[in-house]
Amino acid sequence: MTPCPMPTLPKHIAIIMDGNGRWAKAKGQPRLEGHRRGVEVAEEMITAVNDLKIPFLTLYAFSDENWNRPKEEVDTLMGLLEWFLKTRQEKMLKNGIRFRTIGDTQKLPESVQRVIAETMEVTAHGKALTLILALSYGARNEIMNAVNKILSNQVPGTRYQVLRENELSDLLDTKDFPDPDLLIRTSGEYRLSNFLLWQLAYTELYFTKTMWPEFSEADLAKALEEYSKRERRFGKISEQL
Ligand code: FPP
Repeated sequence: MTPCPMPTLPKHIAIIMDGNGRWAKAKGQPRLEGHRRGVEVAEEMITAVNDLKIPFLTLYAFSDENWNRPKEEVDTLMGLLEWFLKTRQEKMLKNGIRFRTIGDTQKLPESVQRVIAETMEVTAHGKALTLILALSYGARNEIMNAVNKILSNQVPGTRYQVLRENELSDLLDTKDFPDPDLLIRTSGEYRLSNFLLWQLAYTELYFTKTMWPEFSEADLAKALEEYSKRERRFGKISEQL
């Protein structure tokens, strides 16, 4: 893991990229145009976070509830994802980015699953940023899957009487990653929307009214500045830190 250059920078940023549809509608454009611009902004942020030597970035790209959107919109999002991974694989490799996913990716179209597997393989040895896309992801589902694995004795070598916190963490999709230090949500919504509910227990939350398609490096810098001013006490008092 690459160390952060400044102690006040987060090691892991998670982002709920919200507001694509409203941004497009306000401009009299189809929602799909919002998603297209949203992917461009996602790429800009991946580059910015990597340049800052922050080692983990998780982007909420498609929730398990997003399957309920009109088919045309789901197809567009899947198409954008496939296109992004196919065309940016080389760039990720060159920039030391390791690509991973969380969520129920078996529900994604097969062509998308294939390019995900390929991108993970190609970038597996990336030593800079770990980019994690949440795809067909829902936190309650993730936790339920872990619990059901235990109940059906699917965890090799274990017979739990009492479960410890780290043992549950190890059964989540995020087992290889540290918990996020900073969560950013755009578009003026103040919810977690079933995103990383277990992992965000001590995370600093940052909400902005900016719509995702307009989120810029300056907005990221503002979020990081706000984060650096917060005192993370993890339940202790200031004097104990
Ligand atoms: C929320 O906006 C956004 C999504 C449901 C999709 C987010 C996905 C992207 C930005 C693409 C990311 C893809 C890659 C490849 C990184 P919304 O549609 O809910 O907006 P609204 O709340 O204004 O309707």
